[in-house]
Amino acid sequence: MSNLLKFPDRFLWGTSTSAHQVEGNNHNQWSKWEKENAERLSKEAKNHWQLWQREKFPGMFNPQNYISGRACDHYNRYEEDFDLAKAMNNNAHRFSIEWSRIEPEEGKFNQSEIEHYKNVVKALKMRNLEPFISLWHWTMPVWFTEKGGFAKKDNIKYFVKFCEIVVEHFKNEVNFWVVLNEPEIYAGHSYLKGMWPPQKKNFCSYFLVMRNLILAHQKVYKSIKKINPCIQVGIAKNNIYFEAHQNKFVNIFLKKIIEWWWNFYFLNQIKNHQDFIGLNHYFHNRINYGFNKNENKIVSDLGWELYPEAIYFTLKDLKKYNKPIYITENGLADATDKNREWFVKESLKNIHRAIQENIDVRGYFYWSLLDNFEWDKGFWPRFGLIEVDYGMLERKPRPSSKFYGKIVKENGIPKGDLL
Ligand code: BGC
Repeated sequence: MSNLLKFPDRFLWGTSTSAHQVEGNNHNQWSKWEKENAERLSKEAKNHWQLWQREKFPGMFNPQNYISGRACDHYNRYEEDFDLAKAMNNNAHRFSIEWSRIEPEEGKFNQSEIEHYKNVVKALKMRNLEPFISLWHWTMPVWFTEKGGFAKKDNIKYFVKFCEIVVEHFKNEVNFWVVLNEPEIYAGHSYLKGMWPPQKKNFCSYFLVMRNLILAHQKVYKSIKKINPCIQVGIAKNNIYFEAHQNKFVNIFLKKIIEWWWNFYFLNQIKNHQDFIGLNHYFHNRINYGFNKNENKIVSDLGWELYPEAIYFTLKDLKKYNKPIYITENGLADATDKNREWFVKESLKNIHRAIQENIDVRGYFYWSLLDNFEWDKGFWPRFGLIEVDYGMLERKPRPSSKFYGKIVKENGIPKGDLL
């Protein structure tokens, strides 16, 4: 009997990043907003976080925390960072191409930035890391958002054009493309909760943006298939494991509605326009009369419940789409690395369980390779397998990265680690 919980042959093992969160020196709608809001965010931190978080992460009170600036300088240090991914025996890597670099002005495409990403892909391939590219990870050129961004149907054409130009350049080199990263999180935070740029709180705009992102995905899918029908195109979808607290009728009823809207609506709309499903998974939500009744026995630095069984149930719910699944994100903020190894191991055991039940999972990308800029929360949440010292920009692999490397090397979870 094998002493391993084995993963399928050719399973993709990697980590994920996004351009704005690691590259540094981006000029997009988000970097503009950061500068305008850093002061406010640092003042509001005291209302958002519990005492233990405020004490452990005083950086949240510093306005500089909210400005991405040079971030991890991954734009210049990607080779060094890919060496670190390779040292974890990875065979894949997910990252995003920054639209505002490629098309800083409407219709003017910057060839040298395309060359930059060509070099990035080359650097990955030299290390036998399969590139998984996201075309949109929430950031956009300022000119696009000034025209109304995705709230205007007529603007979809700009995004489609950008995607066509990019994919055309990489059509023979890159097999996996994620069109949109978590459209529902973006639409919700930016157009309903009013937290992210452009800080709208409007149901109509929210639905409109969701609708336009669906159309954008469908159009880009068709365009890419015209460029090269062999390319695999998907989404990175944030799905949550919803449970009905105490199985009460009202909770079951609410769960069905919420789950339909959050997990399945977008996927149903694009089901004929995707070759794989990318699953970004972080949350479990036990619904009690519309509120969250999680036990929160173990939480991350952000206070998010760590409940690794959730990924098994989330995967099972995707089986109905009958598509290969890649876990395009899964991870936790854990500055001291105390729960990361446990969390990754337990999550992988649950993924393995799903695979045993014939759910076609083909890859796992931990979020994230590096500590990075966590949007409106700034730099203090630490998601990286590799720690980044933002002063010296030094990289330091955390102990959990060794553990991840061991699993990847074995293509399975050693039994000793199961105990
Ligand atoms: C996003 C990442 C983010 C991560 C952790 C995902 O929703 O795609 O950009 O850093 O979650 O919050």
